[in-house]
Amino acid sequence: MEYTTLNNGIKMPKLGFGVYQVADQKECEQSVLCALNAGYRLLDTSAAYFNEEAVGNAIKKSNIAREDLFITTKLWIQDANYEKAKKAFENSLKKLQLDYLDLYLIHQPFGDYYGAWRMMTELYKEGRIRAIGVSNFGSDRLVDLILNNEVIPAVNQIEYHPYFQQKDAIKVMKEENVQPEAWSPLGHGGQVLKNPILAEISEKYHKSIAQVILRWNLQNNVITIPKSVHQERIESNFDIFDFVLSKNEMEIISTLDRNEYIADLHDVNLVKQLNGLKVR
Ligand SMILES: NC(=O)c1ccc[n+]([C@@H]2O[C@H](COP(=O)([O-])OP(=O)(O)OC[C@H]3O[C@@H](n4cnc5c(N)ncnc54)[C@H](OP(=O)(O)O)[C@@H]3O)[C@@H](O)[C@H]2O)c1
Repeated sequence: MEYTTLNNGIKMPKLGFGVYQVADQKECEQSVLCALNAGYRLLDTSAAYFNEEAVGNAIKKSNIAREDLFITTKLWIQDANYEKAKKAFENSLKKLQLDYLDLYLIHQPFGDYYGAWRMMTELYKEGRIRAIGVSNFGSDRLVDLILNNEVIPAVNQIEYHPYFQQKDAIKVMKEENVQPEAWSPLGHGGQVLKNPILAEISEKYHKSIAQVILRWNLQNNVITIPKSVHQERIESNFDIFDFVLSKNEMEIISTLDRNEYIADLHDVNLVKQLNGLKVR
């Protein structure tokens, strides 16, 4: 496994396992167990994925030492304020059957996230969370949060795949010492997995397109958390440490950007829809 060091000095695996839209509890538990058996140690869930209990059950069953795991969950919009964030954190911890979190993220830049950040800062200082961060924060909101708070987000988890590379946002994160983390690195299983240029590169290394994309993430120092519910894919997505993309191939992939995103967080209807989702 390769690791990166976050801005507060803690080490985070660069490859992890995501469980968005794995709502079936049995399937989620089995997938996470499969991932842990394959070698993943970073898990990414959220209160809004409705599967923290299943993730917790898999962690327990795996018998892997707690300190070898890196567990991320996220605070949902309805709980984004100073008072509610504490209760939401305790709820998530209870569901995960853990007594501390490695990383707690504000899931969306909506609601009273400044209040939530103050509470998360307190929990961080009490040692109940090893690192705190954000998700889906555009550069403007990210920099404003940094300028107005004592603790800087360790991570910003954003949509990132070859068709949506967010180069300006990544540049700002690097300048501000905030670690980028890719969500939907495989474009949510979409057309990018059929790209002919990626296919050509993947053939050269006898790898899949998914493996090439994940390798491209690592080499760009972007943490990546692919999801799958299939053992073969879970294992192959982890098998990316035995080849290195050349500088030229990295540059070729960087030209595939189409500004083609899955979620438009500036779309008023999506903002309304996300605000309407209740996690309890
Ligand atoms: N912060 C946020 O707002 C946010 C938003 C979205 C996602 N996330 C996080 O990021 C994680 C990953 O994103 P994602 O789940 O949206 O999408 P993703 O990891 O980009 O892609 C997952 C899709 O690709 C398929 N797949 C996986 N490996 C494959 C392979 N080797 N070959 C072909 N297809 C493959 C999966 O199908 P099968 O499962 O059928 O194998 C699934 O349909 C999430 O699980 C979640 O933890 C965060």
